[in-house]
Amino acid sequence: MNIVLLGAPGAGKGTQAAKIINDFEITHISTGEIFRKNIKEKTPLGEKAQSYINEGKLVPDSIVIDMMKDRLSQQDCKKGFLLDGFPRTTVQAEALSKAMQIHAVLNLQMDIKTLIYRLSGRRICSGCGNTTHIEFMNGIDDCNCGGRYVQREDDKEETVKNRLKVYEEQTKPLIDYFAKKGILININADRYKDIVYQDIYEALKSLK
Ligand code: AP5
Ligand code: MG
Repeated sequence: MNIVLLGAPGAGKGTQAAKIINDFEITHISTGEIFRKNIKEKTPLGEKAQSYINEGKLVPDSIVIDMMKDRLSQQDCKKGFLLDGFPRTTVQAEALSKAMQIHAVLNLQMDIKTLIYRLSGRRICSGCGNTTHIEFMNGIDDCNCGGRYVQREDDKEETVKNRLKVYEEQTKPLIDYFAKKGILININADRYKDIVYQDIYEALKSLK
C-alpha cells in the first residue's frame, strides 16, 4: 500500500505517521526529516536545503524530486510506503504520479489558527526524537530517554507564518489534484490525535 499524507505544517502528519507505519507495516518517508538529518550531518544536500528551510520556503523541486527518486528506489519501499511532506507542489505530484502508483491520499484538514498554536508550542526530544507540545510538558524540558526537548529551528513564529503562506499557495492545490484522480480521503484533523487516527485506520483498513 502506497500512501501520501497531505496537510498543512502542524496538521499532525508526523504524529499520525508514527501510528500508521506501526499498524500497516509500511516505510515512513518524511522529506523534512531527511533534510534535517542532512543539515545536522552537514552533507552537500543539507547545505543546499538549509537556507530554504530556515526561511520557511520550499526546497527547489529539482532537488526534492532527485532525492525522492533515489529514496523510493530503495528496497524497504517494496513493502509499501507512507509519504509525509511529499509531494508539495504540482510539479512534484506529476513526477510522483509518473513514477509510482499511489493508492490513497489522506488529507489532514485543520484550521490555520490552531496550526500556529500547535507549531509554536511543539518541542522535539534531541535524544529520541519524540514530539510533544508545551501544553503537556508542565514546564519540564527533560525527556525520559535522558535527552532534552528543544524547539525546531523553523518553528519560530515568523517562519511558521511563512510556511503556512507557502502551503496555501503551493501545496493546497494538490487537494484538488488528487481529488480529480479519485484517491483523496479527507480526515478532520482538528480533534484529539487518537480519534483522528481511528478515522485514518478505518479508511486504510477498507483499502486493504
Ligand atoms: P516538514 O518537516 O515536512 O514540516 P511541515 O510540513 O511544515 O510539517 P510539520 O512537520 O511541521 O508538521 P506535522 O504535520 O508533521 O505535525 P506534527 O505531527 O509534528 O518540512 C520542513 C521543511 O522542509 C519545509 O518547510 C520545506 O522547507 C522543506 N521540505 C520538506 N518537504 C519538502 C518538499 N516536498 N518540497 C520542498 N520542500 C520541502 O504535529 C505538530 C504539533 O501538534 C506537535 O506539537 C504535536 O504534538 C501536536 N499535535 C499533533 N496532532 C495533534 C492533535 N490531534 N491534537 C493536538 N495536538 C496535536
Ligand atoms: Mg512533520
